[in-house]
Amino acid sequence: AQRHEVDQVLAPLRLSRDDLKRVQGLMRREMDLGLGQETNATASVCMLPTYVRNTPDGGEQGKFLALDLGGTNFRVLMVEVGADGIRMASESYVIPTAVTQGTGEALFNHIMECIMDFQLKQDLGDQVLPLGFTFSFPCQQLGLDKAVLLTWTKGFSASGCVGKDVVQLLREAAQRKQHLGLKVVAVVNDTVGTMMSCGYDDPKCEIGLIVGTGTNACYMEEMHNVGTVEGEQGRMCINMEWGAFGDNGCLDDIFTDFDLVVDKKTINPGKQRFEKLISGMYLGEIVRHILLALVDKQLLFRGKPCPKLQTNDIFPTKFLSTIEIDGLGLRKVQAILEDLELQASFEDSMLVREVCQTVSKRAAQLCAAGLAAVVEKMRQNQGLDQLVVTVGVDGTLYKLHPCFSQHVQQTLKDLAPKCIVTFRQSEDGSGKGAALVAAVACRGVKL
Ligand code: BG6
Ligand code: GLC
Repeated sequence: AQRHEVDQVLAPLRLSRDDLKRVQGLMRREMDLGLGQETNATASVCMLPTYVRNTPDGGEQGKFLALDLGGTNFRVLMVEVGADGIRMASESYVIPTAVTQGTGEALFNHIMECIMDFQLKQDLGDQVLPLGFTFSFPCQQLGLDKAVLLTWTKGFSASGCVGKDVVQLLREAAQRKQHLGLKVVAVVNDTVGTMMSCGYDDPKCEIGLIVGTGTNACYMEEMHNVGTVEGEQGRMCINMEWGAFGDNGCLDDIFTDFDLVVDKKTINPGKQRFEKLISGMYLGEIVRHILLALVDKQLLFRGKPCPKLQTNDIFPTKFLSTIEIDGLGLRKVQAILEDLELQASFEDSMLVREVCQTVSKRAAQLCAAGLAAVVEKMRQNQGLDQLVVTVGVDGTLYKLHPCFSQHVQQTLKDLAPKCIVTFRQSEDGSGKGAALVAAVACRGVKL
């Protein structure tokens, strides 16, 4: 009887193949809408042009600075691209939540201070190096070095930035700090940086995927399909901003009560709905709410109240990555739960693991449904019976979770059988890709 009740709680989180096919179809529809080929409808996936027109060809050269803002770490990098490969030095900095949610001035001042610290540590003196800026938020790009922030995501809310060109905000901060040596030549999304970074080693890499704090994808689209930029020739990388998929209600029947509670407690309720089903910032919270419901129904921890489990964000997504490790003794699971003042029996530990598995599997399958729409579109664009393509991937969840990547790949194979897709994890983050974009920009060549 208990099994039956547990299954009832978890059933809405278990997606059928039909559900996933439907999500794939909806994503495809939103992609077409976002590309601006159909009017009279607002797409939730905004399909932003990036002005990046080619993946790397290996001929890029020079010494660059790169910034990487919007993931777990803020990084400043120096990247030297030469005939014999790429050399990099980097430094990670913490940006306190108070700064990500304070004023824009304070945020960009902080970024400038980190740049200046890095330049000092690297002994860069007065060298003015061209800078590639990985800025992992939705931006309307008006060119390679002009990017207007459309909205903050992932818990950022610094005031006075939405609607502004982030390059200009950085330049103003440089002026405030009387720092004269800043030459921003390119702004890229982290998906684009990741695609370019992996593309340097693998010319088939024409898709970038991030599954970390947030989730998003980019891919090379044919210019004649891009209704929002003039010109019909060649291709352009499109930053899909697929995290917002479903913000127009098209995924409402996928959301469970648990997802709705998690969404409501964020600083952007109703926004980034797809992202809130998939990425690291939210999965732990979904699990926490399911566990609370199971306790409430007397199906877990003998129904004993769990005051600590009531605390927001007390169950981070990295717990899923640990709890789901194959062969991890249930005693280890018990130890994790003990830190939350939860006395777990053998059965309790098994059930907590099952909840984690259910939530992370759904996330991976949804991610695959999104990717299936992308690869199928690319295959159709090129009129191929079979597409062979590489996806460059980054993000803590994808990299650290024991079976997320496997679930993505299996599901994708099933949903897009005519596409042979290789996944390549980015080794050096997306800063390298931002530098490669900067390198081409500096040659004055149209990227
Ligand atoms: C990093 C990239 O390695 O991965 C960033 O350099 C990206 O640009 C990040 O934003 C995403 O992962 P996470 O888990 O840090 O959000
Ligand atoms: C969020 C951002 C997006 C970014 C993604 C992954 O969805 O809006 O720009 O690519 O997170 O970091």
